[in-house]
Amino acid sequence: KSPLRLGLAGLGTVGASLARLIETKSETLTNRVGRPIELAGVSARDRSRDRGFDTSQLAWFDDPVALARDGDIDVFVELIGGETGPALDAVKAALGRGLPVVTANKALLAHHGVALATLAARSETEILFEAAVAGGIPIIKTMREALSGNDVTRVYGILNGTCNYMLTRMEDEGIAFDDCLKDAQRLGYAEADPTFDIGGFDAAHKLAILTSLAFGCEIDLDSVFIEGISSVTNEDIEAAAELGYRIKLLAVAQLTETGIEQRVHPTMIPAHSALAQVDGVTNAVAVDSDLLGSILLAGPGAGGDATASAVLSDIMDVAGGVLPPTLGLPPAKLVPYRRARM
Ligand code: HSE
Repeated sequence: KSPLRLGLAGLGTVGASLARLIETKSETLTNRVGRPIELAGVSARDRSRDRGFDTSQLAWFDDPVALARDGDIDVFVELIGGETGPALDAVKAALGRGLPVVTANKALLAHHGVALATLAARSETEILFEAAVAGGIPIIKTMREALSGNDVTRVYGILNGTCNYMLTRMEDEGIAFDDCLKDAQRLGYAEADPTFDIGGFDAAHKLAILTSLAFGCEIDLDSVFIEGISSVTNEDIEAAAELGYRIKLLAVAQLTETGIEQRVHPTMIPAHSALAQVDGVTNAVAVDSDLLGSILLAGPGAGGDATASAVLSDIMDVAGGVLPPTLGLPPAKLVPYRRARM
């Protein structure tokens, strides 16, 4: 069978992990999907940087849009990040020529998901985004596939690994906020601009995507209430602990009498509960639905290989010709709802 030719834009923590995995797991992946998966074109800013894999034979594009538009590729993998600029232009170019797109870019989807899903539908192609929410946890496939016959009433959890890592270390080791943040950046967990993490925006992007899948509605980032962890102090965490609680940055979307409520904020959770036990960079997502009741998925929420694992699963779906039964993000409002009342 012919190889699946990838165009990979962005060689940061996740992109470099993905490129290495495609090389080191080549035989396994080929056996599993019945055709080779190969890197046919790459775009990143600095070609000379050592990323632990051989770039000398690759078609190198300085401009990701050129890779998406002109590359000799079957699928475009967007790991650049950012809600506008090259990421948006390149994804539009790829979808416009009918190529499937795999992305980990939650900011892009939260802001432009409806337009991109519409463009994908018009081009009879697909945008896959397992890695955009909760890193390696397979929550998108769970929502789209395993829960497809359920009516979801609530989805909530810990969706930002950086914040959870920081809150855990502040509590366990008494380390100051800024030092925890520096470590999260060093470990490759934080966004390029960590304000997105600590300000709660990254969790809000992910929540808005989950809400869309859970309730079959358009992504509506504007109606998410957002409060980050910037004002949480070591003293707050200690005081909560004395009362038997732990502080977590929670993201919650639920059906209420007035519509769908979406919110992200630090929350005191009883220390014995399952969510309170979720430590470090781990994320956890709970879903309540009519048939299945409550489920909780937990696992690595950030980091190179964990996130690349999710990207790879989407690429393998494309390679095997498997598309999700509930295709893509809802491009249009399916369920009438009013803005959340906070
Ligand atoms: N900065 C994000 C986090 C990366 O810490 O969760 C994964 O989306």
